[in-house]
Amino acid sequence: MNTKVRYHLLLCASSKKQLCCKSTQGIKSWERLKNILKNLNLDSPNHPKGMILRSKVDCLRVCKSGPILLIWPDGIWYENVSPKRIDAIITNHLIKGNPIKEWIIKETPLASFTKELRTRTTS
Ligand code: FES
Repeated sequence: MNTKVRYHLLLCASSKKQLCCKSTQGIKSWERLKNILKNLNLDSPNHPKGMILRSKVDCLRVCKSGPILLIWPDGIWYENVSPKRIDAIITNHLIKGNPIKEWIIKETPLASFTKELRTRTTS
């Protein structure tokens, strides 16, 4: 795969554990996420800024206040990601570059992991 990837979104939407949200809630958010990315052509491998990948995951180990959405490489974790919130996150965070602070529960940016890893492997 020689495609530029801009973001990878992981959504805990219909976990077998059913701890962070009801499966019906999660499925609605997952369907909205797939549809909005497709409708805005953000999932296209030919998008000039790089494509946005999405994956439905079984558990992100938060297990409350879901659906939970994790956005890489920013390492931004959102809670209570309803279909309406999906729309707002796509527009504000992914398109305009402004994460929605009041819905963020955790920040683990990939850049800090990479820097830490380089420090560990070179020392
Ligand atoms: S069940 Fe969704 S984060 Fe664990």
